[in-house]
Amino acid sequence: MVKKIGVLTSGGDAPGMNAAIRSVTRVALMNGVSVFGIRDGYKGLLEGNITQMERTDVSDILDRGGTKLGSARLPEFKESEIQDKCIANLEKHGIDALVVIGGDGSYRGAAALTEKGINCIGLPGTIDNDIPGTDFTIGFDTALRTCVENVDKLRDTSNSHHRASIVEVMGHHCGDLALYTALCCGAEMVITPETGYDEEEVLQRLEYLGDAVKKSHAIIIVTENVCDVDALATKVSNHTSFSGRATVLGHIQRGGSPTPIDRMLASRMGEKAVDLLMEGVGGHCVGIVDNEIISMPIQDALNSTARSRKKLYRLFDRLV
Ligand code: ADP
Ligand code: F6P
Repeated sequence: MVKKIGVLTSGGDAPGMNAAIRSVTRVALMNGVSVFGIRDGYKGLLEGNITQMERTDVSDILDRGGTKLGSARLPEFKESEIQDKCIANLEKHGIDALVVIGGDGSYRGAAALTEKGINCIGLPGTIDNDIPGTDFTIGFDTALRTCVENVDKLRDTSNSHHRASIVEVMGHHCGDLALYTALCCGAEMVITPETGYDEEEVLQRLEYLGDAVKKSHAIIIVTENVCDVDALATKVSNHTSFSGRATVLGHIQRGGSPTPIDRMLASRMGEKAVDLLMEGVGGHCVGIVDNEIISMPIQDALNSTARSRKKLYRLFDRLV
């Protein structure tokens, strides 16, 4: 029977991580299980930066972005000896199970610890929405709200100046943040890892929109790392009737108070993580599929094929 659980946040932070920490802590305490907060992800686990948490330690964080526990990346955590040192630190505190809130890299760490005897549950915390085994990740909805609010503002000024605004959003290798932003903002174009990038095609389309459709402005949403948005803006100014301007939204996408949807998601997922650990389950990740909270082995999730976004791209094409 699990008596003490640890909780940590790992990888890029995401709004709603605090709501997940709060949920894990309070549900565990309600079940008579002690909770230990581990600072800065696997780094804090290695350094033994571990503190017991009480109910009030998670007061007033539900509405806060970021993560109260801090987050970090520790590439050495892939090494078996480093994992053993972390396990020794957990054993020092008598911690027998762990909730890991992070992305797929963090999930791999959780799976490795489970194989070594510490039951771990992964919760999907990232703005990228790129984690297998769930329809949505904690933080995606809040980041989307930030993107939409900012692109709405850009549209105002873009409209006044006959401009094409090229907006780079995050997403790592996943186009969801760009696609959803483009749909919510009525963008003229979306460029993601899934669509690919053809500079000539983009310029021709803008020429058509400016000359034939007489559009006064255009918005193009781009996933990071797909193309150089500054270079594209220059090409747009030189080769179309629009003047091009690039905006990189950057890390503001990772901050802000979580939306009600993210708070709900994180609270439900945190509860599920504790329930699983109390049932003696380890090596699973939690997801939301068709609005049901589910879990599956981390390995199955990591081996599963990415969800198709065909219908959303078709919708974008129909609405543009
Ligand atoms: P995310 O969890 O958001 O995908 P990273 O890929 O940076 O972010 O992973 C976060 C941390 O998880 C890494 O810094 C490392 O400590 C750990 N990690 C990543 N990949 C592995 C792996 N294959 N095995 C064990 N731990 C890993
Ligand atoms: O995974 C979250 C994320 O914000 C990605 O969208 C982005 O590529 C990356 O993290 C940025 O990482 P850093 O915080 O190291 O700049």
